[in-house]
Amino acid sequence: MNLEVRNITVPFTALLWTWIVLSLFPDWWAAFGGIILIVGVMLTQKSSVNAWIQVIKRHHDWRSETDMRVLVTGGAQGIGRAVCEKLEQLGDEVISGDLQEQDGGIHLDVTSEDSWEDALDSVGPLDGLVNCAGIRTRNLIVDTTYEEFQKHLDVNIAGTWLGIRGMFRRRSSKAESSDISYASIVNIASVNAVIAVPAQAHYVASKGAIVGLTKAAAIEGAALGVRVNAIAPGAIRTPMTEERLVDPQQVAWLEGRIPAGRVGEPEEIASVASFLLSDGARYVTGTTVFADGGWTANGV
Ligand SMILES: NC(=O)c1ccc[n+]([C@@H]2O[C@H](COP(=O)([O-])OP(=O)(O)OC[C@H]3O[C@@H](n4cnc5c(N)ncnc54)[C@H](O)[C@@H]3O)[C@@H](O)[C@H]2O)c1
Repeated sequence: MNLEVRNITVPFTALLWTWIVLSLFPDWWAAFGGIILIVGVMLTQKSSVNAWIQVIKRHHDWRSETDMRVLVTGGAQGIGRAVCEKLEQLGDEVISGDLQEQDGGIHLDVTSEDSWEDALDSVGPLDGLVNCAGIRTRNLIVDTTYEEFQKHLDVNIAGTWLGIRGMFRRRSSKAESSDISYASIVNIASVNAVIAVPAQAHYVASKGAIVGLTKAAAIEGAALGVRVNAIAPGAIRTPMTEERLVDPQQVAWLEGRIPAGRVGEPEEIASVASFLLSDGARYVTGTTVFADGGWTANGV
C-alpha cells in the first residue's frame, strides 16, 4: 500500500520523537541537538518514516483519512448488524435502517418509496450505502404463491434499487456544485446468484438480479462519483440461517462443499463491505465479490 506522510501523522511523529529524545536527554541543549539530528534523519530517510507510519496505521488498512457517513439497511441483525459494528469500530458514522425496532437506528421499509425518501431526507448526505435487508423462504416452485415470489422481488431487488435511486438522485443535485467526492454503494447478493439450490427459486431469482443491477448501476453511478459493487456471501451464520445450521446433516452437507471446510461468520462479510466502501477500492466498481470460502469455485 502506498502511504503518504499526511498532515496529521507528521506532527504526531515529530511530537513522539521529541518526547523520546527529551526523556533520554534531560539536558535541554542535548535534547535540542537530538531533535535537530532526528528531524534531519527523518527528512533524508522519508521511506523509513513511511514504513514506521505504516505500522502505526496498520489498523486503518484500506481506509482514507476521512471517516464516512453510511446507511446500512437490515442493520438490526445478522450481516447488517456486523457491518454496522465493523464501520463503527473504524470510526464511521453509521445509521442502521430496518423494519425492526432498534436502539439508535431508524425505521426503514426498503419496499416503500415513501419510507426510503423519509429515511434519506432525515439522514442527510451519505458517503456510503450498504443494501443488506433481505428475506428468504424455502418452498418448491409448485408450492410457492405468487405473493411469496413477488415479496422476494420487492424486498431483495426493488428494495436495493430504491436505495440506489435515492442516493443517485441526491448525488445528481450535488453534482451541480463543484464539490463532488466519491461515494460507494455495496449490495448484498448471494452465491445463489450463480449456483441454485432446490426450494429457493424465488430467492435465487432475486439474488441473480442483484448482480445485474450492480453492473448497470455502476456504469450510471460513475458519472455521479458513486461506485457500486456487490458481495455474494456463501453460508453465513445469522438468524436467517439459524434453523438450517442447527441441523448437523445440513452443516455436514455445506462443509462438504465449501473448500474452507466451515460456514462463514457475519464479520467475514462486514470486512469485505468495509473494503468496498473504502478509498482502497476506489478503482473497483460494477463487480461482485464472492465471500464464500471457495464454495462457488468448487466444481465437485
Ligand atoms: N446468511 C446467509 O447465509 C446469507 C448468504 C447469502 C446472502 N445473504 C444475504 O445477506 C443479507 C442479510 O442476511 P442475514 O443473513 O443477515 O439475514 P437476517 O434475516 O438475519 O437479517 C435481515 C434483516 O433485514 C431486515 N429486513 C427484512 N425486510 C426488510 C424490509 N422490508 N425493510 C427493511 N429491513 C428489512 C430484517 O428485519 C433483518 O434485520 C440478505 O440480503 C441475505 O439474502 C445471507
